Amino acid sequence: KGLNTLAKQAGLKYFGSATDSPGFRERAGYEAVYPQYDQIMWKSGEFHMTTPTNGMKWVFTEPERGVFNFTEGEIVASLAKQNGFMLRCHALVWHSQLPDWVTATNWTAAELRQIIVNHITHVVGHWKGQCYAWDVVNEALNEDGTYRDSIFYQVLGEEYIKLAFETASKIDPHAKLYYNDYNLEYPGPKVTGAQNIVKMLKTAGIRIDGVGLQSHLVAESHPTLDQHIDAIRSFSSLGVEVALTELDVRLTLPANATNLAEQNDAYKNIVGACVQVRGCIGVTIWDFYDPFSWVPATFPGQGAPLLWFENFTTHPAYHGVAEALTNK
Ligand code: G3I
Repeated sequence: KGLNTLAKQAGLKYFGSATDSPGFRERAGYEAVYPQYDQIMWKSGEFHMTTPTNGMKWVFTEPERGVFNFTEGEIVASLAKQNGFMLRCHALVWHSQLPDWVTATNWTAAELRQIIVNHITHVVGHWKGQCYAWDVVNEALNEDGTYRDSIFYQVLGEEYIKLAFETASKIDPHAKLYYNDYNLEYPGPKVTGAQNIVKMLKTAGIRIDGVGLQSHLVAESHPTLDQHIDAIRSFSSLGVEVALTELDVRLTLPANATNLAEQNDAYKNIVGACVQVRGCIGVTIWDFYDPFSWVPATFPGQGAPLLWFENFTTHPAYHGVAEALTNK
């Protein structure tokens, strides 16, 4: 039936896959597979939501101060529109993939505030009305729940988070505003840190609508269904929605029956938890085709984290996901 159809029947809003614009796909030399890739991505009915993996990030959208360029982000945004997909927009304020001009100067607080406001105003303004959600602040936390020592935190402290959400809210009142991070899929100090961000914003009267659990998991050491349920509930009980925003489950290569079975369990647990907790509204995998995953470049020796192998057959985990979407 396709994962999106199953997801809808299970009460979710969508099942999606992130994708990159052709020039940026993770491995050169794969041009020959694009027709088949694009067919599955856009035409198969498996997905009904996408996120550009790179094109809306600061390094592409404001490469020089005050000079905006929406070309890369527009590639995926316009494909989404043509194909009637929902769009998650990613990511406004993040310590990574920043252009040098942002990090190379000792900004005063007033200057950095102006830079953040200007960036969000232009980027959110450009895609106004097209984004189901924006990842407004991405990865602001350390594993122990304290704030990451980014340029934004160094200069402004936690005020930058408030400023980012306040600005995004003004510019696009209809986009859902998310805090997005990894390792929020099971209880622990980082989840507490993210809950505190939600509370801080709500206390200040600033809109936050959701928490994105990136869900970059590891096949051989994955959380249980109950851990996922606890983590998701801990956010939805604060009155925000939850989405799995960048799901993938890497394994130690080569893929074999054992690690693919572990991967299947991992996918089944997390998608199953999302289905079981009201308030978890959708699932996006971080691309669907193994050769285009970010994993091998970042974790040498690991890979095959998605649902389609290099030869376009599906992983066992595809069926685990389908099962999780069926057993409501
Ligand atoms: O900008 C250059 C471009 O000029 C050049 O043509 C191209 C050719 O290889 O490389 C481009 O930069 C790469 C960029 O992706 C765009 O393709 C970077 O080297 C590469 O490091 C970058 O990786 C991205 C990564 O974020 C950066 O941190 C991955 O594609 C993307 O999947 C990954 O996504 C992140 C989420 O945004 C946040 N959560 C974690 C997730 C995985 O790291």
